[in-house]
Amino acid sequence: MMLRPAGICFSTAEKETWLAPRGETLRRCRDDELAYANDMRLSLSINSLRLIAWIAVLPVAAAAQPPMKAIVIHSSGGPEVLKYEDVPRPQAKDDELLIRVMAAAVNPVDVFIREGRINHFPLIPGMDVAGVVEGTGNKVTKFKRGDAIYAYLSFEEQGGYAEFAVTKQDHAALKPRSIDFEHAAAVPLAATTAWQALIEKAGLSAGQTVLIHGGSGGVGTFAVQIAKARGAKVIATASTANQDLLKQLGVDQPIDYTTTKFEDVVKDVDVVLNAVRGDTLARSYGVVKKGGIIVSITGEPDPAELEKHGIRGTGLGAHPDAKVLEELAKLIDAGKITPIVSAVMPLVDVAKAHQQIASRHTRGKVVLKVAEPRKQSPRD
Ligand SMILES: NC(=O)c1ccc[n+]([C@@H]2O[C@H](COP(=O)([O-])OP(=O)(O)OC[C@H]3O[C@@H](n4cnc5c(N)ncnc54)[C@H](OP(=O)(O)O)[C@@H]3O)[C@@H](O)[C@H]2O)c1
Repeated sequence: MMLRPAGICFSTAEKETWLAPRGETLRRCRDDELAYANDMRLSLSINSLRLIAWIAVLPVAAAAQPPMKAIVIHSSGGPEVLKYEDVPRPQAKDDELLIRVMAAAVNPVDVFIREGRINHFPLIPGMDVAGVVEGTGNKVTKFKRGDAIYAYLSFEEQGGYAEFAVTKQDHAALKPRSIDFEHAAAVPLAATTAWQALIEKAGLSAGQTVLIHGGSGGVGTFAVQIAKARGAKVIATASTANQDLLKQLGVDQPIDYTTTKFEDVVKDVDVVLNAVRGDTLARSYGVVKKGGIIVSITGEPDPAELEKHGIRGTGLGAHPDAKVLEELAKLIDAGKITPIVSAVMPLVDVAKAHQQIASRHTRGKVVLKVAEPRKQSPRD
């Protein structure tokens, strides 16, 4: 055993160690591990470590794994830092699935990561995938090779913009049968966020009224449909160009925020879902009835304002949950939710997809097509 006080041990069997909170003390490297000195932090994800091994340090060892195409970020920056490269396929272990990715969605958080606001590099971004199970770790019980699935890769996992990705089985569910891979990839992160906000945080029920800020976006289009499926009355905001979409989704009271201030026409709602950055949260306290709730996914509500208005409020950090994906799949296959995909682009056009998402005016979702589905899967 040897102590590597300024280095990182690389071991694909040590994921939990690497996902430990930042600032965790260094541990001893085992003799069978490979260590190298640098100033990288312990919070690097396993995705980063796999890539570091391939790109910078261990090309010979990593070469044992067949290569795949992926989008790699080596350092923060604009869309130009998204590089289409050959990297080794990841491997599934324990309770993980190796997914042959057919499609991956792009989310605003991917842009924040690329800009270096959250994570460390190198990494393969991407938290939404739909594809086919290619392999399973020895503790996987829920899936088998060939299953068509969709998954919400965790913040630490990342890796969706690639031909293969790895995730825990608890972050995946069987793909809804009624939609293709591109539409399935659009669902996990955005729809789970909408579900966790409306159902788990707000406890939205039939007959209640909900105001959704950003009803035409990735989260908003799912939120509107989830709320309608619950039997709620839905008020939603979007610009003039997206009023038709709000109506198509079943919004009872669409509001064009470019011509109408929502607080002039809305009052006494049970729930507000704030899915917009800017001043919409600050302007929402007065439109909620006493005892109602604001759930914001873009910042925490102000406790003083909540108290002043006699309402509740909370922020939300969405997280992967297979049970939510299973519920969503049922609603999709029952025709109650239709993923809205405004653009499907090949993986190599990822920079264009990021530019679109960074505009903050995307209609529904933007999806990267990674591969053509094969025909042989019995559960496709
Ligand atoms: N906390 C979490 O766990 C979590 C999870 C997911 C997302 N988020 C955050 O939530 C936000 C929404 O995510 P998303 O994926 O839905 O983003 P998105 O798809 O980029 O949302 C774009 C939509 O927002 C609408 N919009 C922009 N400004 C608006 C305004 N002032 N009023 C009403 N609508 C407006 C746009 O409609 P128009 O084009 O018609 O203006 C567009 O359809 C992002 O900031 C994202 O980072 C947080």
